[in-house]
Amino acid sequence: MPKHLAIIMDGNGRWAKRHLQARTFGHKAGAQKIQEITEFCAKYGITHLSLYAFSTENWKRPKAEVNFLMRLLEEYLDSKFSTYLENNIIFKSIGDLSIFSQSLQQKIQHLEQESLKQCNGLTQILALNYGSQDELRRAFLKLSKEMLSIDAIENALDTAGIPNVDMLIRTGGEMRLSNFLLWQSAYAELFFTKTLWPDFSKEELESMLLEFKNRNRRFGGL
Ligand code: IPE
Ligand code: IPE
Ligand code: MG
Repeated sequence: MPKHLAIIMDGNGRWAKRHLQARTFGHKAGAQKIQEITEFCAKYGITHLSLYAFSTENWKRPKAEVNFLMRLLEEYLDSKFSTYLENNIIFKSIGDLSIFSQSLQQKIQHLEQESLKQCNGLTQILALNYGSQDELRRAFLKLSKEMLSIDAIENALDTAGIPNVDMLIRTGGEMRLSNFLLWQSAYAELFFTKTLWPDFSKEELESMLLEFKNRNRRFGGL
């Protein structure tokens, strides 16, 4: 079983288009998927689930869409606060939060602190204003030349203390990583599906987990 599963939740906009709706409709549907998949992963024994929610490149989108996503994130944190605690899910964010409004930063920190205090189940890592290249840049700023060992770099990343990614899934049909967990996925098993994120299901995830079991992970050895 993978300990750490990462998912690039892509395809919300195309899903909305298919339903003849605005892209925002797809983002709402996408946000609603998160809980179901998280609970399934927790039952399956996955210990860390990383979800790509907003990249450092997503600021290039039209202002109205970016604003909608920020509001959606705030609403999500408000409405799901108690669900995390009830379901024993530890919430953690990665990415540069300093760009977000004070109230959004406080909501994120509040859920991080409370869930860490009260829960000991799966850790859900939400990537917010996250880009691997920016994460590495911020990590290198913390380190001196003498300290540049692999371990020191890992400990300076946003994911310090979190095991590297065992399995990475991208929904939505694109075959790229789009700046997500580049370092941490060095030996991840990659899975790509054409399914758009709002249509992704526990059943499809389960069949991928079965395939994961049958893959031969050599890590450069024999
Ligand atoms: C992923 O869905 C969600 C975010 C990047 C916020 P998209 O919005 O990229 O959906 P598509 O790829 O345009 O269908
Ligand atoms: C990746 O999806 C980012 C998230 C899922 C948050 P994008 O839709 O932004 O990626 P590109 O632009 O197709 O590479
Ligand atoms: Mg996309």
